Amino acid sequence: MTTAYLNGEYLPLTEARISPMDRGFLFGDGIYEVIPCHQGKPIGFDAHMSRMREGLAALDIHSGMTPSDWLEVVTALLEKNTSFIPSGYIGVYLHVSRGADTRRFHAYPKDISPTLFAFAFELAPPPTPDINKVRPLKVSLAQDKRWQRCNIKSTSLLGNVMHYQHSHQTGLDETILYNASNEITEASSCNVFAVIDGKVVTPPLDHQLLPGITRQIALKALPEAGIECHERVLTLEELKGADEVWLTSASKEISPVVEIEGQMVADGRPGKRWLQALQAFNQVKFSA
Ligand code: PDD
Repeated sequence: MTTAYLNGEYLPLTEARISPMDRGFLFGDGIYEVIPCHQGKPIGFDAHMSRMREGLAALDIHSGMTPSDWLEVVTALLEKNTSFIPSGYIGVYLHVSRGADTRRFHAYPKDISPTLFAFAFELAPPPTPDINKVRPLKVSLAQDKRWQRCNIKSTSLLGNVMHYQHSHQTGLDETILYNASNEITEASSCNVFAVIDGKVVTPPLDHQLLPGITRQIALKALPEAGIECHERVLTLEELKGADEVWLTSASKEISPVVEIEGQMVADGRPGKRWLQALQAFNQVKFSA
């Protein structure tokens, strides 16, 4: 049984209990992070901490935890769970909800303690940097129906869950989302990149998408490796005609998409730019 962390204690995950009056449960009133760790090493820890701090500030939640407190939790969970997850590919989920109240009332209550929760789980192995061996992704498309604050990594994920289910129930890997102006925002649990005329394009950060840490690391690593990148509006039409499409996230790193709504992306095979991008990402990921 894997070990989890709850409000200062380590305990078997199945024994972790919270109140049904927790606002995370009642309202999705909380912030979370997923930190990918390979062979005991977290990837992008500081960036995950910055994003978490910004999310908590946006919701006016005070976790009382410093980045070094969280690093202690992450390190302890990696140690305690190594034998349960022999592959060494571990995601550490961190969660802060506003805490449990005595009544259900929308306004933020004063004087309640946040609920701090973390657990470790097995990540799928990262993509193999080989055009012939990588598992390519097939995706669907949908108009983005989520809220206007998608830059906050909130635990209110029903919009994302419904969009993800849309592709999952037909055996696809993800749903790429576009807004009312037919501009790509992101996917239900990943950021989106495309290669157009040899240049890498990804939508700019705003309220419509999560500032992904994998995206951030990629946008630093790729130009350093000589790959031109542009953060700009990416239209649905451009995506459909792109030479390559990739999804990025903690678990997928940079993964190639070969089919969108049953139509092949270019020749239907992972592209050369993807391979260069993943190699550039792999060079820096542990120092990012
Ligand atoms: N998903 N966009 C959304 C909506 C996401 O949920 C995620 C991450 C990303 C990529 O962010 P990052 O590169 O920091 O993982 C983009 C996580 C892994 C999840 O919810 O499980």
